[in-house]
Amino acid sequence: MMDVDLRKLPRHIAVIMDGNGRWARKHAMGRISGHKKGAEAVRITVRTCREIGIKVLTLYAFSTENWLRPDNEVQALMHLLEEYLRSELHEMLENGIRLTTIGDTEALKEPFKGILRETMAKTSHNREMTLNLALSYGGRDEIIAAIQKLVQDVHSGKLQPQEISKDLFPNYLYTTGLPDPDLLIRTSGEYRISNFLLWQSAYTEFYFTDVLWPDFNREELFRAIAEFQRRERRFGLTSDQIQEEQTS
Ligand code: FPP
Repeated sequence: MMDVDLRKLPRHIAVIMDGNGRWARKHAMGRISGHKKGAEAVRITVRTCREIGIKVLTLYAFSTENWLRPDNEVQALMHLLEEYLRSELHEMLENGIRLTTIGDTEALKEPFKGILRETMAKTSHNREMTLNLALSYGGRDEIIAAIQKLVQDVHSGKLQPQEISKDLFPNYLYTTGLPDPDLLIRTSGEYRISNFLLWQSAYTEFYFTDVLWPDFNREELFRAIAEFQRRERRFGLTSDQIQEEQTS
C-alpha cells in the first residue's frame, strides 16, 4: 500500500474535489459526465478511507457559490447526490458509516433534502467512520451563522461575553463535535482554499495535486497520505519540543 503507515493516519481528511469540468472537456464530454465520473471517484475514496481506518472524511460536494451555476448543472449535481445516497445506504449501514452534513442544508430542495435527512437518521448510530458532506457550504457563511447563534445566546443570558474563547467558538460551527481536518486535499492544480473550512484548517496540512477529481483513486489517496506522513506537524512549537513530546 505504497508508503502509508497505518499507525499514523490522519484522523480527518477533507477534500476539495475539483476538476470535473476539465476532465469532461479533456474527454470531449459534457460537464455533467465529468460530475458522474466524479461521483465514482467519491465511491472509491469513501471505500478506501473506511478500509484503512480514516475516522472522518469531509467532501466539498456543493459550495454556496455553486448555486450560481447553470440550472441544469445544479439539478444534475443534486440528482447525482441523491443517487449516491440511495445507492450507498446499504454499504454505509454494513460498514458502520455515519452520514453528516455541514452547510446551509435548509437551502437544499426536495426530494434530495428528504433523502438526506433520512440517510442521516438511518446511519446516525454508526461509529466506524463519519462521511461528512459539505452542501451549500461556505466558510465565511458558517462563521457568520456561528456568530449569530452566539450573539443570541449572549442576549438570552445563556452565555457571558467573557466566556467566548477559541475553544468555545467551534461549538457554534457546523462541524461541532468533529476534529479539525489533519489533511486537506485539493485536486486539479488549483492552490486555493475557496472558502472551505476556514476556521477549522488553521493547522491543517494541505496537499495539492494536478490530478483531476474524476481520476482520483486509491493510489492518489495513498500518495496524499504518504506525503502527509512525511511532514512534521509542529503547531508552532520547535522540532525539539515535538521530539520531547513524542518520547515523553
Ligand atoms: C468541481 O468540479 C466539483 C464540483 C463543483 C462538485 C463536486 C461533485 C461531485 C464530485 C459529484 C457528486 C458528489 C458526491 C458526493 C456523490 P468543477 O465542475 O468545478 O470542475 P472545473 O473547475 O474543471 O470546471
